[in-house]
Amino acid sequence: MKFFIDTANLKDIKEANDLGILDGVTTNPSLMAKEGITGADNILAHYVKICELVDGDVSAEVIATDFEGMVAEGEMLAALHPQIVVKLPMIKDGVKACKYFSNKGIRTNVTLVFSAGQALLAAKAGATYVSPFIGRLDDISTDGMALIEEIRLIYDNYGYETQILAASVRNVMHIINCAKIGSDVITGPLSAIEGLLKHPLTDIGLATFLADFKKGNS
Ligand code: G3P
Repeated sequence: MKFFIDTANLKDIKEANDLGILDGVTTNPSLMAKEGITGADNILAHYVKICELVDGDVSAEVIATDFEGMVAEGEMLAALHPQIVVKLPMIKDGVKACKYFSNKGIRTNVTLVFSAGQALLAAKAGATYVSPFIGRLDDISTDGMALIEEIRLIYDNYGYETQILAASVRNVMHIINCAKIGSDVITGPLSAIEGLLKHPLTDIGLATFLADFKKGNS
């Protein structure tokens, strides 16, 4: 399973990358705004900085919501850096734009996916990645993980190559359950990824080992 970090924060991206387990980065306009990155030129420059920091795919989201606008913006984003994946919203023109980019060999990530039907459309349109938002479904008392299971089943039934990129991942259990189901990718904040490290018995065991070593060598 690939690990992407869902942030525009360069420090967090570097920290996850330094751990040696990072496969890519996802961003969105809200995450850019959170880091105070505003204005088209600054946002584009920030995407390039992220690409230079990591080896994997970096999703860059279009702002346009009409087909022509998405095509123009997506082509410009894709030309920025070979690691850029054009992120498109799951709306009618987004599906059309996804098919357009797929025909041109430009990689896409269809975002804001909340149903199996939407994921099926994204696969039909040749999306490289589909991003179902688990956490936001959980927020409205719907089972986000059940959606990942449904999409896995549907994609496997037909051999769709679109990768399931479980997004809006918020915690360790989201990651573990995605791994059990066979999500291709998860994207979440550094806290969720680093949460995988933690177990109290590891800390207690290490403290004991170090204390015993000291006793034997004092
Ligand atoms: O990858 C999608 C993500 O940025 C949304 O996460 O936590 O705002 O629902 P969240």
